[in-house]
Amino acid sequence: MNSSPLWSLQNSAPPSAAPSKTVPAHGLIARARNAFWMAPMSAITDVCYRQLLDEMGAGLLISELVSVKGLVFNSEKTRKMIRIHAHPGTLVGVQLFGESADDFIRVAPLVQEAGADFIDINLGCPVKKVVKKGCGAALMRDPVFLEQFLTRIQRNIGLPLTVKMRTGWSQEELTIHECVSAAANAGCEWVAIHGRTRQQAYSGRADWDLIAEVKRRARLPIIGNGDIRDAERAQSLYSSSGVDAIMIGRGALRNPWIFKQCTGALGATLEPTPMQLLARYFELLKAVYDTRLTLLQLRKMAMWMAYGYPGAAAFRKALFQLHRGADVLEKAEEFFDRTASLPIPQFDESEAFMMGGHG
Ligand SMILES: Cc1cc2nc3c(=O)[nH]c(=O)nc-3n(C[C@H](O)[C@H](O)[C@H](O)COP(=O)(O)O)c2cc1C
Repeated sequence: MNSSPLWSLQNSAPPSAAPSKTVPAHGLIARARNAFWMAPMSAITDVCYRQLLDEMGAGLLISELVSVKGLVFNSEKTRKMIRIHAHPGTLVGVQLFGESADDFIRVAPLVQEAGADFIDINLGCPVKKVVKKGCGAALMRDPVFLEQFLTRIQRNIGLPLTVKMRTGWSQEELTIHECVSAAANAGCEWVAIHGRTRQQAYSGRADWDLIAEVKRRARLPIIGNGDIRDAERAQSLYSSSGVDAIMIGRGALRNPWIFKQCTGALGATLEPTPMQLLARYFELLKAVYDTRLTLLQLRKMAMWMAYGYPGAAAFRKALFQLHRGADVLEKAEEFFDRTASLPIPQFDESEAFMMGGHG
């Protein structure tokens, strides 16, 4: 990260923010650019998307989940996932998942050499293939073991350690308080909480009352996450729950300006414009991927950004007929020219959007 003046989380609170934060003035979190962070998302928050969202003012960035085993076996594909873009404007972490503390310790130097500021461990992934091996959300079922596991890793790596978890395995097994204690005792820098159980997957609602309660009891910074679709809600939950930062996932896919809105950095018009943003993403993708992957990622982003505008379904269909990035941009220009005068569509909390993921 660059050496611009360190940002203090207290300073980012909107003027009306009531509860005072318990963020230590030192420690990793005090070096985040602001309190509104991009959530890790598999097959999305790769090196290109992170750079784009860095340029869009996200307070902190985390990679998609990366298999520790893949790094141990030196898989080229996995090694590429931990690349960090040049000159990040804020902290960038690499999220790992795995079941062996020794493996984490073994691969930590690779993550450090790649230029990451911290290692985040995924304790929230609900996917069967992952939990079956005792990784992801399965690690929340035994807080005593979790503490030993995290302690061993924390003491033997050269980077700060953070974790991202759910509220527990199920409503009957809400181990969040114990797991947060385990992380605090193990010396983690913070705990990010997606306010759902593993059993809920992406159904129901993120439990922000529980996140606020965890925050009241916790001895380390708590990051709240789940169902934030617009800047107003992000700011209001940041104030009312007392969390030390907010993580936004799906909301940012449809509205990449959300971080600027949260920090008051967006004026009356969209800056950059949707087309400037897509063109920049295209440039970043081309520098890293082959034509096929570039096209796939660019198409996805154009579709997310079009969601909710009139004509989005037809636009989406048309994109699938295109096989060159330049054609996608041309089609997108027609679409976003037409919608330029419209406000960013509201994204209702109850609307199903990307109801699956690794955390
Ligand atoms: C497509 C997708 C992929 C995800 N991948 C990850 C991941 O790799 N690691 C992780 O910790 N969480 C992952 N998540 C969970 C998000 O980080 C976040 O916790 C969740 O989407 C709730 O926040 P949101 O409502 O703001 O999206 C993923 C979510 C989605 C939708």
